Amino acid sequence: MPDLAPILSKEDIEIRVADLANTISEDYIDGDLVLIGVLKGSFIFLSDLLRGLTIPAEVDFICASSYGSGTASSGNIRLTKAPDIDIENRDILIVEDIIDTGLTSAYCIDVLSALDPKTIRLCTMVDKKERRKKSIPVDYACCTVDAGFLVGYGLDYDQKYRGLTGIYELKGA
Ligand code: IMP
Ligand code: MG
Repeated sequence: MPDLAPILSKEDIEIRVADLANTISEDYIDGDLVLIGVLKGSFIFLSDLLRGLTIPAEVDFICASSYGSGTASSGNIRLTKAPDIDIENRDILIVEDIIDTGLTSAYCIDVLSALDPKTIRLCTMVDKKERRKKSIPVDYACCTVDAGFLVGYGLDYDQKYRGLTGIYELKGA
């Protein structure tokens, strides 16, 4: 049975997400914001972030699959769901659960940039630094960690643990 070591409690997450929602609300006060969540891992973070915003925002999702059932990126990314909203000339904020190698986010930025948004920025719950392969601009992050495989608050290991209210490091997976 794998061990779960606490990284962020439910309360820590609430404070950080509320802070980030305030910052984004200020930054986009004159904008035309569309949050684009990268499925599946971002759905819980996105729903809390959206409810913390004090400005209007639309929501859409894309699905980019890179991982199999293990803990290391295959680097082989496919778009399995494109956005439904027309994002041309709009302010796009990509919402990620976690950025690890950066390959998924770089791919999402490329795919969405081709649809001619006015601006495009990247937001993540967790910015995990150690295995970064692609240098990408992380405009907003709630939490930065060096390494470790994290679960909870939307993050999964083999589709499990997404519903944990805190974020934990999975040891011995
Ligand atoms: P990247 O392409 O290596 O940056 O990987 C991004 C995706 O890999 C994330 O959206 C997650 O779905 C998954 N991932 C990377 N690290 C973790 C982790 O520590 N826990 C759970 N999923 C992870
Ligand atoms: Mg995942």
